[in-house]
Amino acid sequence: MRTIIEKVNKNELNTEIIKEAGRILKEGGLVAFPTETVYGLGADALNEDAARKIYAAKGRPSDNPLIIHITNMDALGKITRNVSEKAKKVAQHYWPGPLTMIFDKSEIVPYGTTGGLDTVAVRMPVHDVAKEVIDAGGGYIAAPSANTSGRPSPTTAQHVAEDMDGRIDMIVDGGAVDIGVESTILDMTVDPPMILRPGAVTKEMLEELIGEIDVDRTLIQPDSKKVPKAPGMKYRHYAPKAELTIVEGNIDQVVCEINRLTDEKQKEGYKVGIIGTRETVGRYLYGDVKCIGTREDEATIAGNLYGILREFDDDKVDFIYSESFATDGIGSAIMNRLLKAAGHHVIRI
Ligand code: TXA
Ligand code: MG
Repeated sequence: MRTIIEKVNKNELNTEIIKEAGRILKEGGLVAFPTETVYGLGADALNEDAARKIYAAKGRPSDNPLIIHITNMDALGKITRNVSEKAKKVAQHYWPGPLTMIFDKSEIVPYGTTGGLDTVAVRMPVHDVAKEVIDAGGGYIAAPSANTSGRPSPTTAQHVAEDMDGRIDMIVDGGAVDIGVESTILDMTVDPPMILRPGAVTKEMLEELIGEIDVDRTLIQPDSKKVPKAPGMKYRHYAPKAELTIVEGNIDQVVCEINRLTDEKQKEGYKVGIIGTRETVGRYLYGDVKCIGTREDEATIAGNLYGILREFDDDKVDFIYSESFATDGIGSAIMNRLLKAAGHHVIRI
Protein backbone atom coordinates (compact mmCIF):
# COMPACT_ATOMS: atom_id res chain seq x y z
CA MET A 1 0.00 0.00 0.00
CA ARG A 2 1.24 3.50 -0.80
CA THR A 3 0.99 5.92 2.12
CA ILE A 4 0.09 9.49 1.18
CA ILE A 5 1.93 12.00 3.40
CA GLU A 6 0.52 15.55 3.35
CA LYS A 7 1.57 18.60 5.36
CA VAL A 8 -1.16 20.84 6.74
CA ASN A 9 -0.93 24.27 8.21
CA LYS A 10 -2.81 24.83 11.49
CA ASN A 11 -4.02 28.19 10.23
CA GLU A 12 -5.31 26.97 6.90
CA LEU A 13 -7.71 24.17 7.65
CA ASN A 14 -10.68 22.67 5.87
CA THR A 15 -8.50 22.08 2.86
CA GLU A 16 -8.56 19.42 0.18
CA ILE A 17 -6.16 17.45 2.38
CA ILE A 18 -8.60 17.29 5.28
CA LYS A 19 -11.40 16.34 2.88
CA GLU A 20 -9.25 13.54 1.46
CA ALA A 21 -8.50 12.30 5.00
CA GLY A 22 -12.23 12.33 5.75
CA ARG A 23 -13.04 10.43 2.58
CA ILE A 24 -10.49 7.71 3.39
CA LEU A 25 -11.82 7.36 6.95
CA LYS A 26 -15.44 7.13 5.77
CA GLU A 27 -14.43 4.41 3.32
CA GLY A 28 -12.90 2.37 6.14
CA GLY A 29 -9.24 3.34 5.64
CA LEU A 30 -6.53 4.38 8.09
CA VAL A 31 -5.32 7.98 8.55
CA ALA A 32 -2.68 9.12 11.06
CA PHE A 33 -3.13 12.66 12.39
CA PRO A 34 -1.65 14.93 15.07
CA THR A 35 -3.31 15.56 18.41
CA GLU A 36 -1.95 17.70 21.26
CA THR A 37 -0.62 14.57 23.05
CA VAL A 38 0.84 12.23 20.40
CA TYR A 39 -0.03 11.29 16.80
CA GLY A 40 -3.07 9.02 16.52
CA LEU A 41 -3.81 6.27 13.99
CA GLY A 42 -7.42 6.88 13.06
CA ALA A 43 -10.20 4.69 11.72
CA ASP A 44 -14.00 4.94 11.75
CA ALA A 45 -14.80 3.72 15.29
CA LEU A 46 -18.32 2.58 14.36
CA ASN A 47 -17.07 0.40 11.50
CA GLU A 48 -15.74 -2.81 13.03
CA ASP A 49 -13.74 -3.79 9.95
CA ALA A 50 -12.01 -0.40 9.85
CA ALA A 51 -11.17 -0.55 13.55
CA ARG A 52 -9.73 -4.04 13.07
CA LYS A 53 -7.31 -2.72 10.44
CA ILE A 54 -5.70 -0.63 13.19
CA TYR A 55 -4.72 -3.76 15.09
CA ALA A 56 -3.12 -5.24 11.99
CA ALA A 57 -1.17 -2.08 11.10
CA LYS A 58 0.18 -1.66 14.65
CA GLY A 59 0.67 -5.34 15.44
CA ARG A 60 -1.50 -4.63 18.48
CA PRO A 61 -3.04 -7.40 20.63
CA SER A 62 -6.77 -7.52 19.88
CA ASP A 63 -7.77 -7.36 23.57
CA ASN A 64 -6.32 -3.84 23.83
CA PRO A 65 -9.25 -1.42 23.38
CA LEU A 66 -9.17 1.81 21.35
CA ILE A 67 -10.04 5.36 22.38
CA ILE A 68 -12.88 6.97 20.41
CA HIS A 69 -12.14 10.60 19.52
CA ILE A 70 -15.05 13.04 19.24
CA THR A 71 -15.48 16.80 18.90
CA ASN A 72 -18.72 17.56 20.79
CA MET A 73 -20.93 16.47 23.70
CA ASP A 74 -23.77 15.22 21.45
CA ALA A 75 -21.37 12.63 20.11
CA LEU A 76 -20.58 11.54 23.68
CA GLY A 77 -24.28 10.87 24.28
CA LYS A 78 -24.50 8.63 21.21
CA ILE A 79 -21.66 6.27 22.13
CA THR A 80 -22.05 6.06 25.93
CA ARG A 81 -24.60 5.31 28.67
CA ASN A 82 -24.73 6.61 32.26
CA VAL A 83 -22.64 9.78 32.02
CA SER A 84 -22.56 11.06 35.63
CA GLU A 85 -22.75 14.66 36.80
CA LYS A 86 -19.12 14.37 37.89
CA ALA A 87 -18.13 13.29 34.38
CA LYS A 88 -20.04 16.22 32.87
CA LYS A 89 -18.18 18.58 35.19
CA VAL A 90 -14.81 17.09 34.21
CA ALA A 91 -15.76 17.33 30.53
CA GLN A 92 -16.76 20.96 30.94
CA HIS A 93 -13.36 21.83 32.43
CA TYR A 94 -10.92 19.60 30.61
CA TRP A 95 -12.50 18.88 27.23
CA PRO A 96 -11.35 19.50 24.63
CA GLY A 97 -7.94 18.47 25.98
CA PRO A 98 -5.49 15.71 26.94
CA LEU A 99 -7.98 13.64 28.93
CA THR A 100 -9.74 10.35 28.13
CA MET A 101 -12.74 9.15 30.15
CA ILE A 102 -14.18 5.65 30.34
CA PHE A 103 -17.94 5.09 30.28
CA ASP A 104 -20.40 2.25 29.68
CA LYS A 105 -20.70 1.88 25.93
CA SER A 106 -23.91 2.21 23.92
CA GLU A 107 -25.06 -0.38 21.40
CA ILE A 108 -23.69 1.43 18.37
CA VAL A 109 -20.09 0.92 19.51
CA PRO A 110 -18.78 -2.37 18.10
CA TYR A 111 -16.85 -4.80 20.30
CA GLY A 112 -14.10 -4.70 17.67
CA THR A 113 -13.38 -1.15 18.88
CA THR A 114 -13.56 -1.84 22.63
CA GLY A 115 -11.55 -5.06 22.62
CA GLY A 116 -14.67 -6.96 23.70
CA LEU A 117 -15.39 -4.68 26.70
CA ASP A 118 -18.78 -3.18 27.61
CA THR A 119 -17.03 0.08 28.39
CA VAL A 120 -15.63 2.65 25.97
CA ALA A 121 -12.79 5.17 26.26
CA VAL A 122 -13.63 8.62 24.86
CA ARG A 123 -11.46 11.67 24.25
CA MET A 124 -12.15 15.12 22.80
CA PRO A 125 -8.82 16.51 21.57
CA VAL A 126 -8.14 20.24 21.36
CA HIS A 127 -5.71 20.15 18.40
CA ASP A 128 -7.25 21.95 15.41
CA VAL A 129 -6.07 19.43 12.85
CA ALA A 130 -7.38 16.53 14.97
CA LYS A 131 -10.78 18.21 15.26
CA GLU A 132 -11.02 18.75 11.51
CA VAL A 133 -9.98 15.19 10.68
CA ILE A 134 -12.45 13.71 13.20
CA ASP A 135 -15.35 15.75 11.82
CA ALA A 136 -14.40 15.06 8.21
CA GLY A 137 -14.23 11.34 9.01
CA GLY A 138 -17.77 11.19 10.42
CA GLY A 139 -17.27 12.30 14.02
CA TYR A 140 -16.26 9.03 15.77
CA ILE A 141 -12.63 8.18 15.17
CA ALA A 142 -10.90 5.32 16.99
CA ALA A 143 -7.25 6.25 17.39
CA PRO A 144 -4.47 4.62 19.34
CA SER A 145 -1.01 6.15 19.26
CA ALA A 146 0.30 5.78 15.69
CA ASN A 147 3.36 3.67 16.53
CA THR A 148 4.09 0.01 15.98
CA SER A 149 3.00 -1.80 19.15
CA GLY A 150 5.90 -1.73 21.66
CA ARG A 151 7.68 1.31 20.19
CA PRO A 152 7.58 4.82 21.70
CA SER A 153 4.51 6.84 20.70
CA PRO A 154 5.10 9.22 17.76
CA THR A 155 5.42 12.92 18.45
CA THR A 156 6.16 13.91 14.83
CA ALA A 157 4.85 12.79 11.43
CA GLN A 158 8.37 11.51 10.72
CA HIS A 159 8.05 9.07 13.65
CA VAL A 160 4.72 7.89 12.25
CA ALA A 161 6.27 7.35 8.82
CA GLU A 162 9.11 5.29 10.35
CA ASP A 163 6.59 2.84 11.77
CA MET A 164 3.62 3.05 9.39
CA ASP A 165 4.88 3.89 5.89
CA GLY A 166 3.33 1.38 3.50
CA ARG A 167 0.89 0.08 6.16
CA ILE A 168 -1.71 2.87 6.23
CA ASP A 169 -3.49 5.08 3.68
CA MET A 170 -2.47 8.55 4.81
CA ILE A 171 -0.41 10.60 7.27
CA VAL A 172 -1.56 14.16 7.93
CA ASP A 173 1.59 16.02 8.95
CA GLY A 174 0.69 18.86 11.31
CA GLY A 175 4.19 19.28 12.76
CA ALA A 176 5.44 18.28 16.21
CA VAL A 177 2.84 17.75 18.94
CA ASP A 178 2.56 20.05 21.96
CA ILE A 179 2.56 17.72 24.98
CA GLY A 180 4.41 14.56 23.98
CA VAL A 181 2.88 12.00 26.37
CA GLU A 182 -0.51 10.32 25.96
CA SER A 183 -3.72 11.57 27.57
CA THR A 184 -4.68 10.94 31.18
CA ILE A 185 -7.16 8.04 31.35
CA LEU A 186 -9.89 8.45 33.97
CA ASP A 187 -12.33 5.60 34.61
CA MET A 188 -15.74 7.17 35.30
CA THR A 189 -17.53 3.80 35.68
CA VAL A 190 -16.32 3.58 39.29
CA ASP A 191 -16.73 5.93 42.24
CA PRO A 192 -14.42 7.53 43.18
CA PRO A 193 -13.20 7.80 39.59
CA MET A 194 -9.86 6.12 38.98
CA ILE A 195 -6.79 7.20 36.99
CA LEU A 196 -5.66 4.29 34.83
CA ARG A 197 -2.87 6.21 33.07
CA PRO A 198 -1.30 9.51 34.23
CA GLY A 199 -1.09 12.39 31.75
CA ALA A 200 -1.13 16.16 31.48
CA VAL A 201 -4.44 16.46 33.35
CA THR A 202 -3.16 15.48 36.79
CA LYS A 203 -4.72 13.85 39.86
CA GLU A 204 -4.38 17.18 41.69
CA MET A 205 -6.26 19.05 38.95
CA LEU A 206 -9.09 16.49 38.95
CA GLU A 207 -9.34 16.35 42.74
CA GLU A 208 -9.67 20.09 42.96
CA LEU A 209 -12.69 19.83 40.65
CA ILE A 210 -14.58 16.72 41.79
CA GLY A 211 -12.97 15.51 45.02
CA GLU A 212 -11.46 12.10 45.68
CA ILE A 213 -9.69 10.32 42.82
CA ASP A 214 -8.19 6.83 43.04
CA VAL A 215 -5.11 5.73 41.14
CA ASP A 216 -4.77 2.22 39.72
CA ARG A 217 -2.42 0.56 42.23
CA THR A 218 -0.52 -1.23 39.49
CA LEU A 219 0.77 2.17 38.30
CA ILE A 220 2.33 2.76 41.71
CA GLN A 221 3.50 -0.74 42.61
CA PRO A 222 4.84 -2.43 39.51
CA ASP A 223 5.44 -5.68 41.42
CA SER A 224 1.80 -5.96 42.35
CA LYS A 225 0.31 -9.22 41.11
CA LYS A 226 -2.75 -7.33 39.92
CA VAL A 227 -3.34 -6.71 36.23
CA PRO A 228 -3.69 -3.01 35.28
CA LYS A 229 -7.26 -1.94 34.56
CA ALA A 230 -6.33 -0.35 31.23
CA PRO A 231 -5.45 -3.44 29.18
CA GLY A 232 -2.75 -1.53 27.29
CA MET A 233 -0.84 -0.72 30.47
CA LYS A 234 0.11 -4.35 31.05
CA TYR A 235 2.28 -4.56 27.96
CA ARG A 236 5.90 -3.44 28.09
CA HIS A 237 5.13 -0.35 26.04
CA TYR A 238 7.50 2.41 25.08
CA ALA A 239 10.40 -0.02 24.94
CA PRO A 240 13.69 1.25 23.53
CA LYS A 241 15.93 -1.37 21.92
CA ALA A 242 18.70 -0.70 24.48
CA GLU A 243 18.50 -1.64 28.15
CA LEU A 244 17.40 1.50 29.98
CA THR A 245 18.28 2.17 33.64
CA ILE A 246 17.03 5.11 35.70
CA VAL A 247 19.48 6.46 38.29
CA GLU A 248 17.74 8.15 41.20
CA GLY A 249 19.07 10.27 44.06
CA ASN A 250 20.90 13.52 44.76
CA ILE A 251 21.61 15.03 41.33
CA ASP A 252 25.38 15.45 41.87
CA GLN A 253 25.71 11.82 42.91
CA VAL A 254 23.49 10.75 40.00
CA VAL A 255 25.80 12.48 37.50
CA CYS A 256 28.84 10.83 39.14
CA GLU A 257 27.25 7.39 39.08
CA ILE A 258 26.13 7.70 35.44
CA ASN A 259 29.67 8.78 34.48
CA ARG A 260 31.06 5.75 36.32
CA LEU A 261 28.57 3.29 34.78
CA THR A 262 29.09 4.72 31.29
CA ASP A 263 32.87 4.53 31.54
CA GLU A 264 32.58 0.93 32.75
CA LYS A 265 30.31 -0.13 29.88
CA GLN A 266 32.35 1.68 27.23
CA LYS A 267 35.49 -0.08 28.44
CA GLU A 268 33.62 -3.34 27.88
CA GLY A 269 33.04 -2.19 24.30
CA TYR A 270 29.40 -1.14 24.55
CA LYS A 271 27.75 1.96 23.12
CA VAL A 272 26.06 4.00 25.86
CA GLY A 273 23.40 6.72 25.73
CA ILE A 274 22.70 9.22 28.51
CA ILE A 275 19.50 11.17 29.16
CA GLY A 276 20.53 14.39 30.91
CA THR A 277 18.93 17.79 31.44
CA ARG A 278 20.00 21.32 30.50
CA GLU A 279 21.27 21.64 34.07
CA THR A 280 23.57 18.60 33.80
CA VAL A 281 24.50 17.73 30.20
CA GLY A 282 27.79 19.62 30.39
CA ARG A 283 28.92 17.39 33.25
CA TYR A 284 28.78 14.05 31.47
CA LEU A 285 32.20 12.87 30.38
CA TYR A 286 31.45 9.89 28.14
CA GLY A 287 28.75 8.41 25.96
CA ASP A 288 26.07 9.69 23.58
CA VAL A 289 24.61 12.47 25.77
CA LYS A 290 21.18 13.90 24.94
CA CYS A 291 19.40 16.79 26.62
CA ILE A 292 15.77 15.95 27.36
CA GLY A 293 14.80 19.46 28.51
CA THR A 294 15.05 21.59 31.59
CA ARG A 295 14.02 20.79 35.16
CA GLU A 296 12.72 24.36 35.37
CA ASP A 297 9.95 23.41 32.93
CA GLU A 298 9.07 19.73 33.04
CA ALA A 299 6.77 20.12 30.04
CA THR A 300 9.93 20.30 27.91
CA ILE A 301 10.95 16.90 29.29
CA ALA A 302 7.57 15.34 28.41
CA GLY A 303 7.84 16.85 24.93
CA ASN A 304 11.24 15.29 24.17
CA LEU A 305 10.96 11.92 25.92
CA TYR A 306 9.69 9.70 23.10
CA GLY A 307 11.76 11.44 20.42
CA ILE A 308 14.94 10.80 22.43
CA LEU A 309 14.10 7.13 22.93
CA ARG A 310 13.67 6.81 19.16
CA GLU A 311 16.99 8.61 18.54
CA PHE A 312 18.77 6.13 20.77
CA ASP A 313 17.19 3.30 18.74
CA ASP A 314 18.62 4.90 15.57
CA ASP A 315 22.02 5.39 17.23
CA LYS A 316 21.98 1.69 18.14
CA VAL A 317 23.18 2.17 21.69
CA ASP A 318 23.36 -0.92 23.94
CA PHE A 319 22.65 0.78 27.28
CA ILE A 320 20.88 4.00 28.27
CA TYR A 321 21.20 5.73 31.64
CA SER A 322 18.63 8.34 32.56
CA GLU A 323 18.27 10.81 35.38
CA SER A 324 15.07 10.56 37.41
CA PHE A 325 12.35 13.23 37.70
CA ALA A 326 9.95 14.54 40.34
CA THR A 327 6.53 12.91 40.26
CA ASP A 328 4.27 15.89 40.75
CA GLY A 329 2.30 17.50 37.93
CA ILE A 330 3.28 16.23 34.47
CA GLY A 331 6.20 14.48 36.24
CA SER A 332 3.95 11.55 37.17
CA ALA A 333 3.29 10.90 33.47
CA ILE A 334 6.99 11.30 32.60
CA MET A 335 8.10 8.86 35.30
CA ASN A 336 5.31 6.38 34.47
CA ARG A 337 6.48 6.19 30.82
CA LEU A 338 10.17 6.23 31.71
CA LEU A 339 9.76 3.45 34.29
CA LYS A 340 7.87 1.34 31.75
CA ALA A 341 10.56 1.93 29.14
CA ALA A 342 13.11 0.84 31.76
CA GLY A 343 11.13 -2.26 32.70
CA HIS A 344 11.22 -0.67 36.20
CA HIS A 345 15.00 -0.99 36.36
CA VAL A 346 16.07 1.73 38.85
CA ILE A 347 19.34 2.26 40.71
CA ARG A 348 18.82 4.27 43.92
CA ILE A 349 21.90 5.96 45.33
O1 TXA B 1 -3.29 10.72 24.02
C1 TXA B 1 -3.86 9.68 23.70
O2 TXA B 1 -4.71 9.14 24.43
C2 TXA B 1 -3.50 9.07 22.33
C3 TXA B 1 -3.99 10.03 21.26
C4 TXA B 1 -3.81 9.49 19.89
O3 TXA B 1 -5.32 10.36 21.49
N1 TXA B 1 -4.06 7.77 22.20
C5 TXA B 1 -3.60 6.70 22.88
O4 TXA B 1 -4.21 5.50 22.58
O5 TXA B 1 -2.70 6.77 23.70
P1 TXA B 1 -3.57 4.09 22.92
O6 TXA B 1 -4.47 3.11 22.25
O7 TXA B 1 -2.17 4.06 22.57
O8 TXA B 1 -3.80 3.92 24.45
C6 TXA B 1 -5.11 3.74 24.94
C7 TXA B 1 -5.09 3.13 26.31
C8 TXA B 1 -4.64 1.68 26.31
O9 TXA B 1 -3.81 1.45 27.43
C9 TXA B 1 -5.98 0.95 26.46
O10 TXA B 1 -5.83 -0.30 27.05
C10 TXA B 1 -6.78 1.91 27.32
O11 TXA B 1 -6.43 3.15 26.80
N2 TXA B 1 -8.25 1.73 27.16
C11 TXA B 1 -8.98 1.95 26.06
N3 TXA B 1 -10.28 1.63 26.25
C12 TXA B 1 -10.37 1.21 27.54
C13 TXA B 1 -11.45 0.72 28.35
N4 TXA B 1 -12.69 0.63 27.88
N5 TXA B 1 -11.15 0.37 29.63
C14 TXA B 1 -9.87 0.50 30.11
N6 TXA B 1 -8.83 0.94 29.38
C15 TXA B 1 -9.07 1.28 28.12
MG1 MG C 1 -0.15 3.59 22.63
